[in-house]
Amino acid sequence: MPTSKSTEAAERSPGVKDVFGRPLRDLRISVADRCNFRCIYCMPKEIFGSDYQFLDRKELLTFEEIERLVKVFVGHGVEKIRLTGGEPLVRRNLENLIEMLAAIPGLDLTLTTNGSMLARKAESLKAAGLNRVTVSLDSLDNEIFKAMNDVGFPVEKVLAGIDEAARVGLNPIKVNMVVKRGVNEQSILPMARYFREAGHILRFIEYMDVGHSNGWKLDEVVPASEIVEIISADMPLEQIPPNYPGEVANRWRYQGDENEVGVIASVTKPFCGGCTRARISAEGKLYTCLFAVAGQDLRQLMRDGISDSDLSDAVGLTWAARKDRYSEIRSSLTEGLPKVEMSYIGG
Ligand code: GTP
Ligand code: 5AD
Ligand code: SF4
Ligand code: SF4
Repeated sequence: MPTSKSTEAAERSPGVKDVFGRPLRDLRISVADRCNFRCIYCMPKEIFGSDYQFLDRKELLTFEEIERLVKVFVGHGVEKIRLTGGEPLVRRNLENLIEMLAAIPGLDLTLTTNGSMLARKAESLKAAGLNRVTVSLDSLDNEIFKAMNDVGFPVEKVLAGIDEAARVGLNPIKVNMVVKRGVNEQSILPMARYFREAGHILRFIEYMDVGHSNGWKLDEVVPASEIVEIISADMPLEQIPPNYPGEVANRWRYQGDENEVGVIASVTKPFCGGCTRARISAEGKLYTCLFAVAGQDLRQLMRDGISDSDLSDAVGLTWAARKDRYSEIRSSLTEGLPKVEMSYIGG
């Protein structure tokens, strides 16, 4: 029997929509709340010191629990899985999880890493079925980078990780640079030149007010428009359309070649209108916004023995009730609200 046009459309675009009609497409799963860096804008040492209480091993979702959740989310329309942290590569045997998730058809499976262990791990990640990686790197200048990661980690090792990821085929590789006023603005142009030459997609991220520990101030944000101006003055840029609806980065191409850069203007040009992202913390709490105050405890539901269909209903109802648009309404009213930390929720 021929299917009607509306059925076809529903098949192409299945899944739940939130209060503002936004579908659920991306799921970001934190697999570890720990990290071997102490980036000043994310896990400042004063707060994440040696006495900081990270999650216990048994509090983390198991790989089987993560696989179960991913299947539920795919049923609601998720097409992309991004593994995050903390630093996801500190999670033992991560390749096993990647193998389990790679067996689920039709998923874009990717990971955001600080790159410190990538030279060693790229090959096994690729072999396990990971499609691509995004690497965070805030400067090519060792002094600046070491001061930003605050553990003295050298630039060369991250660059070696990126090279190895490219060699084994974890492409396209994206590089994320958080720009903080007075700290690494002078690194914008050298980073742009280097990654244009290397052929990887560099994205500049406006420093955000995630969590409470980084002491964020608006005047420390370098607006995306200023970043584009700095690069354009040296290497002219032209804007290009998004790759997919709801892409967070605005894309710019260098005139004269196919290479591109992106700017993620979550402070100066919020993109909540197209936000299709859900996040699961390492202990299994579901957050429908990066700036959410509380999450839904999916681990508890699973460990209490919930059925697959009830679990699916619970997730669907949460998404259907979603009204988040924090970046659009960011104001003095939202400043004092309790927020989860970036290292906990995974960026
Ligand atoms: P692609 O699949 O490669 O397009 O990746 P992506 O841009 O969805 O993910 P990525 O992890 O590279 O995002 C880059 C950064 O943008 C994140 O680390 C955050 O800093 C920021 N970001 C991503 N999603 C959101 C969001 O929903 N809200 C806000 N405010 N910032 C976000
Ligand atoms: N503002 C913007 N980006 C941040 N990240 C971490 N903390 C912040 C912040 N306060 C970025 C990291 C990494 C990703 C996981 O999130 O640099 O690219
Ligand atoms: Fe670790 Fe990434 Fe946070 Fe830096 S930004 S401390 S690398 S989780
Ligand atoms: Fe999505 Fe919340 Fe970010 Fe807005 S602030 S884009 S709703 S995660």
